[in-house]
Amino acid sequence: ADVFTYDPGFTSTAACDSTITFIDGEKGELLHRGYPIDQLASQSHYLEVCYLLLYGELPSATQLEEFETLVTRHTMIHEQMHNFFRGFRRDAHPMATMVGVVGAMSAFYHDSTDINDDHQREVASIRLIAKMPTIAAMAYKYSIGQPFVYPRNDLDYASNFLNMCFSVPAEEYQANPILSRAMDRIFTLHADHEQNASTSTVRLASSSGANPFACIAAGIACLWGPAHGGANQACLEMLKEIGTVDRIPEFIARAKDKNDSYRLMGFGHRVYKNFDPRAKVMKQSADEVLELLGVDNNPILQVAKELERQALEDPYFAEKKLFPNVDFYSGIILEAMGFPTSMFTPIFALARTVGWISQWKEQLADPQLKIGRPRQLYLGETRRDYVDIENR
Ligand code: CMC
Repeated sequence: ADVFTYDPGFTSTAACDSTITFIDGEKGELLHRGYPIDQLASQSHYLEVCYLLLYGELPSATQLEEFETLVTRHTMIHEQMHNFFRGFRRDAHPMATMVGVVGAMSAFYHDSTDINDDHQREVASIRLIAKMPTIAAMAYKYSIGQPFVYPRNDLDYASNFLNMCFSVPAEEYQANPILSRAMDRIFTLHADHEQNASTSTVRLASSSGANPFACIAAGIACLWGPAHGGANQACLEMLKEIGTVDRIPEFIARAKDKNDSYRLMGFGHRVYKNFDPRAKVMKQSADEVLELLGVDNNPILQVAKELERQALEDPYFAEKKLFPNVDFYSGIILEAMGFPTSMFTPIFALARTVGWISQWKEQLADPQLKIGRPRQLYLGETRRDYVDIENR
């Protein structure tokens, strides 16, 4: 008989080898190609981190300029894709629209679906990184009934995204450089995170030879769930539901109750058993952004800080090593910038695209690549004979 390891949730299975991202969950350390995330978030910027993840080294000034130009020149989407957006209901969740539109890219960019052509793999990577902000912004504009805004080549990646989300024909939008920087930092903090559920989904989809657009659409679908990328939306909704600091103990008690499935959103992580290093940077950024916008006494931020304090002092959270994760403070920043909660997970998806793509490329370059095909522990009926309907 076949012998295999039973590991539901893959808590102890390494499904691949990789040289991209390293996490030490006990220490709360996250490295991209060896560089600590806090250094990248404070000293680098998103497109440079994209280059690093994709190609393994920090770019020279010329390499970075070429890469940025290449991405900028691919930000428009095929004009006919506008009709595709228009087929959705206006009140569709932008993540639902994104799963469909990104999947449909394989119908619009046939040339880059050939995964055996090195050049086309490169083109597909650039197209996805470049077009994802356009697609996310269009999903948003469509959901609020405003006209689509075309990308602009004179703006940096984050400012262009803010412009596509907030500009209207009647009035030009001027992104505040501090907000653009905060947006860019949110992208950087979400860029990659080793073999999380959505990345593993992308790898599994790609292992069959599926095209890159289909694989990334699968990643987006997986990311949507509240235990994964959907936690940023769920977390802000939770903070609003709590509303005032005096109600915090009630919610902590629910999260601790064995008979209640309620969880504190933005808390806990499969790998981190210490502070999520991304959450630390995010918290600092939340303070900066709210101060800039003159809302540093924001009641939701007060609830978040007090909830964090009380949870960290609580023996339940200490014993289970539950700390705030990346999703805990990001929603506060995004809301202050003017995004509705439904846009939080699309922003995560657009930022994570480079991680998915880097891992997809790494996987395809592996000469040992096999189709991903887990086994199971069968607990059903043993063989039995079919019974006619009148005898059941
Ligand atoms: N609130 C209360 N209790 C929790 C929480 C929480 N947020 N997270 C885990 N626990 C408890 C859980 O009930 C379990 O207790 P017991 O051992 O008594 O059954 C124990 O801690 C271990 O939890 P688990 O579900 O076995 O751990 P996991 O590694 O399978 O789950 C997780 C990790 C992130 C899904 C989980 O912590 C969670 O649901 N957190 C809330 C959602 C969230 O914030 N997700 C974002 C994750 S980070 C970014 C991303 O991936 O998008």
